[in-house]
Amino acid sequence: MAKKPWGGRFKEATDVLVERFTESVSFDRRLYKYDIAGSIAHARMLARQGIIPKEDAEAIVKGLEEIRDAIDEGRFEWRVDLEDVHMNIEHELSRRIGEAGKRLHTARSRNDQVATDMRLYLKDEIIALDSSLKDLQESLLYQAREYFDCVLPGFTHLQHAQPVLWPHHMLAYFEQFRRDRERLKDAFKRVDVCPLGSAALAGSDFPIDREFVRRELGFSALSRNSMDAVSDRDFVAEFIFCASLVMIHLSRLSEELILWASDEFSFVELPDSFCTGSSIMPQKKNPDCPELIRGKTGRVLGALTAIMTILKGLPMTYNRDLQEDKEPLFDTCDTVRLCVDVMARMLRGTRPRRDRMHQATRGGFLTATDLADYLVEKGVPFRSAHEIVGQVVAYCVENGKELWELSLDELKGFSQEIEEDCFERLSIQGSIEKRNSFGGTAPGRVKDALEEAEAWLRSHSIGE
Ligand code: ARG
Repeated sequence: MAKKPWGGRFKEATDVLVERFTESVSFDRRLYKYDIAGSIAHARMLARQGIIPKEDAEAIVKGLEEIRDAIDEGRFEWRVDLEDVHMNIEHELSRRIGEAGKRLHTARSRNDQVATDMRLYLKDEIIALDSSLKDLQESLLYQAREYFDCVLPGFTHLQHAQPVLWPHHMLAYFEQFRRDRERLKDAFKRVDVCPLGSAALAGSDFPIDREFVRRELGFSALSRNSMDAVSDRDFVAEFIFCASLVMIHLSRLSEELILWASDEFSFVELPDSFCTGSSIMPQKKNPDCPELIRGKTGRVLGALTAIMTILKGLPMTYNRDLQEDKEPLFDTCDTVRLCVDVMARMLRGTRPRRDRMHQATRGGFLTATDLADYLVEKGVPFRSAHEIVGQVVAYCVENGKELWELSLDELKGFSQEIEEDCFERLSIQGSIEKRNSFGGTAPGRVKDALEEAEAWLRSHSIGE
């Protein structure tokens, strides 16, 4: 068992149960690249400022690079008795280069070190997630372009409401993921802050150059208050919130795909490669991928609750509770990215079933509002028009007819204002073409929206 760095103060060795209880190396080892980058920048700064000898800094940098190679290649032995990623690496450095390695931790604490590692890690994760979200948006645009003239019933309360274009429906999801990406871009600014140099909590008594370290590590800003810097995990909570909304959007889309793939709807055919069968029922083709995405949303919402709860009762400044930020964050990053990638590829291979959607638009009186609007154009106040069309629909229900199956005489029985030209308005295509307000489903509007979405996709990026 290794002697602890704090051994000087202690008479008893750490209980093995406590070692198992307090260790984080089993999960925070994934921060090693960032931990080493932070240490290299710190060591270079210490030498530039004359705080440690140049030769020592050179030995530290070389030693750390070799350790990074060893970890990359799986040649590093992680030790639980060395508690976390920071002490494992520092211990190994001293083992390799001796005295010089022991100078690395000058003017630094694990408190500012871990905050730095977490921020560097999360910056990379946000950029990767953003790029996955971009792929997903590409898939939505592919669907919108490829099946531009496909029409389906739009729903409210899961009841037939008004007909819409398939690309309009796809672009509705595009908007959700656009907001997600804008949120990530904004959250990124608050992650992109360098806390190193805050030391334990009060700053350092050495003549450190924080600005140099900031530049070396590629952060855009320096933390302004050393106490806040070591105790702040708002950036973790904020990211998990952004990720939760991504999951909620994915889950809603999943729910639609599951419904649409059912025999009752049959609006889409999911790719075989993204479905699984049943071990007993030979006919089954199950939508497991969207189901799992919907299910995994629970994990991420759980992580959001966890981080909020961890933070709520903490006094200034660093408290060990903060170690509990890692597993929820790591699990969130892994889960969300995987779900976005699966959705992007599954959607690409999904085929909308034009025939089934078209058939569905024929039921449910989807153009009832159009008939009311038609009466308004003839001078009838909207409320009265609504009442009249309500009676027409009730009549249709009683007689097992659709609106367009009524004769002009039948219609005139409800309002003398109704003329032959109303039938054009009762058609699905007529209804869609009339919805020409900005943001509406008329083909011209949707075409403009598609072009705008494509341009946005080309121009949006995080960082730089
Ligand atoms: N493993 C710790 C964490 O993740 C590192 C910081 C430990 N600092 C301390 N004062 N014990 O939070």
